Parts: sequence; C-alpha cells; structure tokens
Amino acid sequence: MTQTLTIRRPDDWHLHFRDGETMRAVVPHTARQFARAIVMPNLSPPVTTSALAAAYRERIVEAVPEGVEFTPLMTAYLTDESNAGDLAAGFADGMLTAAKLYPAGATTNSAHGVNDVANISGVLERMAEIGMPLCVHGEVTHAEIDIFDREAVFIERVLEPLVARLPELKVIFEHITTRQAVEFVDASGPNIAATITPQHLHINRNDILVGGIRPHMYCLPVAKREEHRLALRKAATGGSAKYFLGTDSAPHHRQDKESDCGCAGIFNAPHALESYVTVFDEEGQLDRFEAFASENGPRFYGLPLNEGTVTLEKIAQEVPASVAGGAAEIVPFHAGETLSWRLAS
Ligand code: DOR
Ligand code: ZN
Repeated sequence: MTQTLTIRRPDDWHLHFRDGETMRAVVPHTARQFARAIVMPNLSPPVTTSALAAAYRERIVEAVPEGVEFTPLMTAYLTDESNAGDLAAGFADGMLTAAKLYPAGATTNSAHGVNDVANISGVLERMAEIGMPLCVHGEVTHAEIDIFDREAVFIERVLEPLVARLPELKVIFEHITTRQAVEFVDASGPNIAATITPQHLHINRNDILVGGIRPHMYCLPVAKREEHRLALRKAATGGSAKYFLGTDSAPHHRQDKESDCGCAGIFNAPHALESYVTVFDEEGQLDRFEAFASENGPRFYGLPLNEGTVTLEKIAQEVPASVAGGAAEIVPFHAGETLSWRLAS
C-alpha cells in the first residue's frame, strides 16, 4: 500500500512573488499547497509602507485561482527612513504581519535597505512594544567579508547586540544556512526563531560549483559546506518549535540566472512540500513534519493554526525541466530530478 502523510494545512513563512505577469504565473504554485504565505517586499521599488502593501496584496489576491483559499501575509521593507507610526498602524489593522530588514546591498533589490541598524532603532523599539515581528536577512554586506562568512559575522556584529538590546523583539532569522545560526537560535530565548529553506536542507556548496557552475543552485545566503547542511537538517527535523518552513522561493527567469551576472534565488514553489517531506523521510522524522510545516510558524507569529489538511503520498514524480513564468520560463528547484513524494490532488 502507498505510504501517505496527512498534516494540517501548512503555511510558507517566507517567499517572493514578484509582481505583474511573473507573479500571476507563480502564485498558483504556492496557493495549491499553502494556506498562507509571508510575502517579501523586495519589489522594485520596494513595498515600504502599509498603503503599498495593501495595493500589492490586492494584486496577489487577484492572481489566486478561482476556488482556492489562500491568504497573503504582507511585510514592509525597512529603510533608513521607515516610519514607525505607519508600520504600527499597518500592524494594528492587520495589513502588515511583519517588517523585513535587508541590510543595504545584501541581495535582490536591497539597495534601499538599512545601512546601519542604529538608523532604525526607533522603529525596532516600537515593533518590540507592539509585538510586531521582524524578519531578518542575516548577512553583513561589507566587501571585505567573505561571502561564505557573511551570516556568521552578521550574528556577531548585528544580531547578538540587537537581541541583547531589545529582548522583547520577535525576530525571525530568515533562511538560515550555517551551524552558527542554529547554535545562536538554540541558545536564544523564545523570541528568536528561524526559517529554513528546502534547498539548504538538500544542497551544499559543491552542488553549485563542482563539475560546472550551476546558476539554478545559487541563492543568498549561498549554500555552505556539508557540515552546515547537516546542522540545518538536524535543526529542522529535531523537534524544536523555533524552526519552521519558509521556502524563500525566489523566481527569476531562466536568462537572468544563466547570465554572466546571474541573479540569486531558487524557485522552489512548485514542489516545496514534497521537497521538504523527502528530508523528513530521509531523517526518519516524518512525525515531526507537521509541527515544522503547520504549527511552529503560526504559534511564533501568534496567528491561528489553519483548518483543513493536505495529504502527501510516497509516489515518485519527475520534476519538469522548466515551468511557465510569465514573460519567460523559470527553472524550478529539483528540475529533471525524481522526487519520492507527491502532493495528493
Ligand atoms: O536568493 C535570494 N533571492 N535571496 C534573497 O534574499 C532574495 C531573493 C530574491 O528576491 O531573488
Ligand atoms: Zn527571501
């Protein structure tokens, strides 16, 4: 008999939908699997205010297929000029679920990000007061710091001092990639949590660089050494409520990845749940998948758990080489591979 796993309907606590035609092509993949998703605000220009988030939210909702229930949870992009009053009002009326800290220059469309956390200390104090969560892209951007060290250095230079100064602030350390991040989260109090992507559970830096350069395996923070991948697998499947599902699905058209200056981002939305469940299966921890995918996130954010369920079946499926992405195709994570699980329709 086919092995199946039925879990409470899950959420994706970190992803990128983009806008326009690309957004309309990618939203259905997420809405098919997840009840809600935290939508990142790094559009060009970025979603910096509650009003911009409201307009973006409407465009996303229009892209959800008929008959599918899906709720986008909006975030505001913090800049050196962010207005604490606007963010607090957006949080109070439910338009904003969180705010996102991009260190300036860290990744795609982050040029308007924060140059120094000191510049937003008033905003962060207000967020701590009202219980508004802060999503953090945890990499320093200084030219002299090696790209493989940028997350670990961020912990020392930015995150530890921030958490010490504002212990009440709820922080989600997004898409963690290192053993040091796991150690930091494990050692922190209950206001610190982390999301983990499927790619950082599956690949290490050899997968990007050995036997030829693989632009579709490149994202930020970049995948690290094998010891870090193993630490992340242990964290995700270890039963701690501090870790939850956040795909960081980041669609870029094929030609923008296969380029002399390829974009960072892995488009994992089409088979996200199947990709994660494979890891839990390989680790012999299928019974812990529901908490990671459907419970730890809403509990940390203080949101209700979803009603309803989804069922995964241990039936092999081949991942297509590319999927439609609006103006051009997008190569998904696991393209051309066979995954051992599939979502029952
Ligand atoms: O790889 C990434 N892609 N990392 C990010 O932080 C941003 C994302 C994107 O927007 O493309
Ligand atoms: Zn992201």
